[in-house]
Amino acid sequence: MTTERARSFGAAADDYDRLRPAPAAEALRWLVPSPQSRVLDLAAGTGLVTRALAAEGVHGVVAVEPDDAMRAVLTARSPGVRALAGTAEDIPLPDGSVDVVLAASAWHWFDAERAATEIARVLRPGGVLGLMWSYSDPDTDWVADLRRIGRAEAQGSASLVRSGLSLEMPAGAPFGTGESRVFRRSAWMAAQDVAAMLGTYSSVLTLPAAERRDVQRRARALLTERVGNDPVRVPFVTGAFRTLRS
Ligand SMILES: C[S@@+](CC[C@H](N)C(=O)[O-])C[C@H]1O[C@@H](n2cnc3c(N)ncnc32)[C@H](O)[C@@H]1O
Repeated sequence: MTTERARSFGAAADDYDRLRPAPAAEALRWLVPSPQSRVLDLAAGTGLVTRALAAEGVHGVVAVEPDDAMRAVLTARSPGVRALAGTAEDIPLPDGSVDVVLAASAWHWFDAERAATEIARVLRPGGVLGLMWSYSDPDTDWVADLRRIGRAEAQGSASLVRSGLSLEMPAGAPFGTGESRVFRRSAWMAAQDVAAMLGTYSSVLTLPAAERRDVQRRARALLTERVGNDPVRVPFVTGAFRTLRS
């Protein structure tokens, strides 16, 4: 994955926060053993996971995010949360200091070998590494067509989840085999927001301005034709993978 794409999100931080789906609450319950767990929200972005954890009563959260614009939204929306600049390959936390590391829609941006070593360092033995991807569900026809306009498949989250999230930790990393589950939910969104959501994906953010406008134009036209201009129920998937640090 290119650094340009990995670091593209800050340009749309407010839209990202407003429009992108938070993970399904059941996925968080599956990944976080107890509300008392000390959790690292790694690649926390604008804090969608941090806030969803707070809603589940999990407050011992530290967020790590490299992009200043994304982290600024997180800090503004969750002023009580410790939010640090850092990367998955260089986490600014002591050894064995957390029970759970969560990384949502982010593992594919990491240098997997360096990140696995660094995550293992900050996780206590027996702690959980939980990886998630949340996205609009392409099993619904109009969503699949919309995602094609947004080139979302280029990112591969949906195909990764469809193929059973058979993630393998890098050789030698101290993690168990792992298991995966898929959680579904839906949310009502204004049709124009569904189109605007496409603009928060790196596949669109890194296009020239004229092409980004074209994506919006085509997305709005598709929505008008297929679901109309009223609020629409959007199906979402969260694919989750968990593995224990040995
Ligand atoms: C798609 S966003 C996901 C944000 C958040 N986890 C969420 O679910 O909304 C990907 C995030 O990964 C961050 N990122 C990219 N490369 C990273 C790295 N090597 N280490 C940590 N974070 C990284 C980006 O800045 C961005 O905020």
